[in-house]
Amino acid sequence: MSIKINNDKKKWFIETKNMVYVIGVDEKKNLQHLYWGEKLPYVSDYPRVLLPQEFPFDNFEQIIKEEFSPWGGIRYKEPGLKVIYEDQVRDLILKYKTYKLIDIDKCKTLIIYLTDPIYNLEVGLTYRLIEEYDLIERWVNIENKGNQSVKIEQILSAQWHLPDIQDYRLSYLYGRWASETKLSRTELPYGKKILESRRGITSHHFNPWFAVDNGQADEDFGKIYYGILAWSGNWKIVFEKDSCSRLQIAGGINDFDFSWQLKPNECFVTPKFIAGYTNNGFGDASRKLHHYQLDYILSRNANHKIRPVLYNSWEATLFNVNEEGQKKLAEKAASLGVELFVLDDGWFGERNDDKAGLGDWYVNKRKFPHDLTSLISYVNELGMDFGLWVEPEMVNKNSKLYNLHPDWVYHFPNRACSESRNQLVLNLAKKEIVEYIYDFMNKLLDNYNIKFIKWDMNRPFSEPGWPDAPKSQQQEIWVRHVQGFYQILDKLRSKHPDVIFESCSGGGGRVDLGILLRTDQVWTSDNTDAFDRLKIQEGFSYAYAPKIMMSWVTDSPNWLNQREVSLDYRFNVAMMGSLGIGGNLNKWSDAEMMLAKGKISQYKEIRKIVQHGDQYRLLPTCKGNLVAVEYVNEDKDKVVLFVFLHSQQFGEKLLPIKLKGLINDTLYQYYDEENGKVILSGKALKEIGLKVDLKGDFDSKVIILEKKNNRNDKVI
Ligand code: GLA
Repeated sequence: MSIKINNDKKKWFIETKNMVYVIGVDEKKNLQHLYWGEKLPYVSDYPRVLLPQEFPFDNFEQIIKEEFSPWGGIRYKEPGLKVIYEDQVRDLILKYKTYKLIDIDKCKTLIIYLTDPIYNLEVGLTYRLIEEYDLIERWVNIENKGNQSVKIEQILSAQWHLPDIQDYRLSYLYGRWASETKLSRTELPYGKKILESRRGITSHHFNPWFAVDNGQADEDFGKIYYGILAWSGNWKIVFEKDSCSRLQIAGGINDFDFSWQLKPNECFVTPKFIAGYTNNGFGDASRKLHHYQLDYILSRNANHKIRPVLYNSWEATLFNVNEEGQKKLAEKAASLGVELFVLDDGWFGERNDDKAGLGDWYVNKRKFPHDLTSLISYVNELGMDFGLWVEPEMVNKNSKLYNLHPDWVYHFPNRACSESRNQLVLNLAKKEIVEYIYDFMNKLLDNYNIKFIKWDMNRPFSEPGWPDAPKSQQQEIWVRHVQGFYQILDKLRSKHPDVIFESCSGGGGRVDLGILLRTDQVWTSDNTDAFDRLKIQEGFSYAYAPKIMMSWVTDSPNWLNQREVSLDYRFNVAMMGSLGIGGNLNKWSDAEMMLAKGKISQYKEIRKIVQHGDQYRLLPTCKGNLVAVEYVNEDKDKVVLFVFLHSQQFGEKLLPIKLKGLINDTLYQYYDEENGKVILSGKALKEIGLKVDLKGDFDSKVIILEKKNNRNDKVI
């Protein structure tokens, strides 16, 4: 595993544990993509740098696979970079200059420099290897070494080229508010398919993750090329299949309504676009992404700490929060074994509904006469940490902040600002607003014993105007907002390293690896209906680790679709990620409280396996009546199986569930109602499976298996 360079230093072999990625320079000093996939035995096996024959209408640049193509010359594919020089030249030339090998946080990294020799614009293509998970992180650093400004109109993080096959199948995640991360699969047509967000946030509608296979891969078999973007603003990923059935996948910041003025001596760094390859199906691809996130994305301070069981009363009380009510809920939550109590919306300003108060981040003394201190101490005395909801990027027109600074919101002159949820977006492109938000957040964390922040963002952008900025910077707001937002979080995290941050945006509207570099978990969806959640959580699992996924036990019937399911079922669904309780505990019966206490204590026993183990989607939601998800710990001696029955039809036999990821001759013990203690080998559990006894509608079970000492009845 390493980055190898051939003798004449014109070819790079980027090797991870099980894959290799090859780039070369041709005679015209273009950087060509040569190979991506399985390792081959001999150097001579790898494709050579092409010098294809040109035809009219099919010139050289159209035929080769350019590693990072400029818009210039005879080129028509989605470019990596498009610029306008100050003299209005719009033709960009990028030629190979040199390369550098470095280590970034202990990971081997290759930087290849391309340059436009006339204008002295330098582009550094970076490849950071995540060797054990067969992933490459790519990003681009562009530096203006000339003496004129350059206007960037498009700058993507990477272009990936797949091996040529006849039919590419794309898997991606789509959705909407309260219905995020649904998996969809489609054959890629000739031409372009674009996934994107133009809403200022990652969005509920598409998530910046993809997987491409030949249409035949499944959970355990087949070659998958997959990728994920680390950006929380406007993004796009363009899948472009040309008439020779070659697929280029180009992605990064969305160029829609974007431009950036790069002055002399300035740099622009794109977000990371991470991609990987596996020959072992979708399950392996997901597990690699999960472990990559735990080891490389989540904050080093908290990545391997177990997530606490959380209580949040949003669904139970909505804006109707006050000291007395929250204390009562806190007592109940503590009696169940909850470890973190979070106060949601409604605690500040004149925030009695969603029409007022956003922006006024001082405690509402009518609701909390003893400030927050009294509630926090009470929560701490009950043995729980305290957390708080905020939505710092927003303002209601009906607020002191808006009255003071009506010009702080994005707006165009001569145009009204469209409100959504009665709120407007603060212009984080402005330094003073970034400072203002940092200051009040920092004060909150300095003044109170707050161990958790739920950072919300409840509307997409509109009228993205910034009237007092120079003309040349008007279209920079999409990127500057995200940069300002990241800056606040980065500063807060370094000052308050022990505070856990949760990202929420009307549920799952801002879930991506950019935000996860700065937060610990996400509010997966505002939809907490346990049955709906099976699909949302399953889609989520293709791209993100279970530990990141907050999963909720709320009241039944569910407020969104009025479905009724048992408390046990609701718990079992929520225990597949990081567990949160959000029901109105004042209304739970003694029997429900007892059941909840038992489930929380069961979760504490298994959460390490769920949060840090390997996840297997055994029976997906699309396959019928049964859904099964399994988690196996690192040593493969502890296993948790979650099984859900939708509705039983008389006469329909439930087939045994075949486990995965176990050690063949290790013995595993579990309990079932019919036989009591059962001991079977890993091989038997994989080959024959395990019978689950589920009945009726919306039944479910959690089965825990543990390694037992081997016995002496081996027959083979
Ligand atoms: C959004 C969030 C909810 C809740 C409300 C508060 O809708 O997704 O969880 O915090 O805001 O207003």
